[in-house]
Amino acid sequence: MPTNPRNLLPRRRFLAHSAAVLSTTLAAPAVLRAASRRKQLHVAAIGVNGMGWADLSNVGSHAAVKFVGFCDIDQQAFTKADAAFPGVKHFVDYREMLATLSEGLDAVIVSTPDHMHAPVAMLAMQAGKHVYCQKPLTHTVWEARQLQLMAAKAGVTTQMGNQIHSAREYRVGVQLIRSGAIGKVREVHSWVGVQGRQYCNRTDRPPQAPVPAGVNWDLWLGAAPVRPFAADCYHPFKWRDWQAFGSGALGDFGCHILDPVFGALGLKHPDSLIAENAGTTEEVWPGPETVTWQFPGTDFTTGPLKIIWRDGGLKPPVELAGMPAGQDLPAAGSLFLGEHGTMILPHVGMPQLYPADRFQNIAMPDLQGSSHWHDWVDAVLAGRKTTDGFDYAGPLTETVQLGNIAARLPGQQIAWNATAFECSLPAATKLLTKDYRSGFEVKAV
Ligand SMILES: NC(=O)c1ccc[n+]([C@@H]2O[C@H](COP(=O)([O-])OP(=O)(O)OC[C@H]3O[C@@H](n4cnc5c(N)ncnc54)[C@H](O)[C@@H]3O)[C@@H](O)[C@H]2O)c1
Repeated sequence: MPTNPRNLLPRRRFLAHSAAVLSTTLAAPAVLRAASRRKQLHVAAIGVNGMGWADLSNVGSHAAVKFVGFCDIDQQAFTKADAAFPGVKHFVDYREMLATLSEGLDAVIVSTPDHMHAPVAMLAMQAGKHVYCQKPLTHTVWEARQLQLMAAKAGVTTQMGNQIHSAREYRVGVQLIRSGAIGKVREVHSWVGVQGRQYCNRTDRPPQAPVPAGVNWDLWLGAAPVRPFAADCYHPFKWRDWQAFGSGALGDFGCHILDPVFGALGLKHPDSLIAENAGTTEEVWPGPETVTWQFPGTDFTTGPLKIIWRDGGLKPPVELAGMPAGQDLPAAGSLFLGEHGTMILPHVGMPQLYPADRFQNIAMPDLQGSSHWHDWVDAVLAGRKTTDGFDYAGPLTETVQLGNIAARLPGQQIAWNATAFECSLPAATKLLTKDYRSGFEVKAV
């Protein structure tokens, strides 16, 4: 791979500095520090284009936020961020940024591709920074558990970036189920139209191409094994298809669409799961798939609960919903089957209850949506938790990424022991984690 000397990093210096920062900052609870030191929150963004732009523009619209660093591996990525927030210092390497900004930094936004969420978020929390991290929270099940543990240990305020969590539609749906509108729930079906390998649309490695000027490919790869750059297949956006970087259709949408299912039913860890698909390679995620998890019962279920996920054009049988003849299910969402009826929660739309005549007089809960990004900033300033912190988003992401393990072992039933952190199949247990490239490791908490 061609190496641009300007891309070479004085890694040891950053890491040594980060360790020193960590040993001093963790001495005092970070939430108290940030809230008491200043009314203004000093924030840095890692990954500033794509969803990163949405994240930083929404966080930056909070009056208390001052950006102190923008980090991106692509020089072209800074254009919109610079126009909206001029004069913010640029960085290419998040490790250098964390070490340089040090005590002048309170919080970070992590909007990189999935494979770099945990390395960045972990280092930030080890340095006592509050974190807003895109969904899926992590690339592996083990990383989700470790970020959860680190957030609790560091006492920082965290939020996963599945912003629809705070939308009115999802809040109303969660409240309807919690209030028993359709009775206790016996089964849930969730689905999305996209499939796991549709962006680059190939199963083998693409041909090598020159790294575009201004892109630091080595830092884009980060924790992942080195491979040559290829045009129009990885950076930007199309990395989703590849197991080394993305999380397929389930990882892309599971943390959105399964979030109100988790929230409404009080779910945490599944007992078992199984996936069905037409097979896959070690490189890319499968095409259309079904993943079925079995959860222990909760106060909101009739007993043990089955969740069936479908993607790539697969949908549950429309008859299950009890809709009027001729109506179809939305393109994406969840169908809750309850004792007294069904609820469809479109992604994203207001909940619909069936049979319609039974629910025509039901009052919709009087709930409003809010800015997911501002809620995080407000919680940081107030020194409190959010509703979508890593204690909640961690188990949700573990469930989603367990589904991706099952997807690589289709047709095989997997029992999951969340306490022992072990699957019944050794091949599945092996996939709970992955190897890290030197300099980008995620250390066990
Ligand atoms: N919440 C949502 O609705 C939503 C929507 C889209 C994407 N996402 C999530 O946001 C994340 C980014 O997705 P995207 O579609 O914007 O991807 P993208 O590839 O389009 O953009 C990623 C940005 O991060 C930069 N980047 C990549 N590696 C980096 C690194 N190591 N350090 C610093 N910057 C780096 C890229 O240059 C680019 O600016 C993913 O985790 C994705 O799942 C969430």
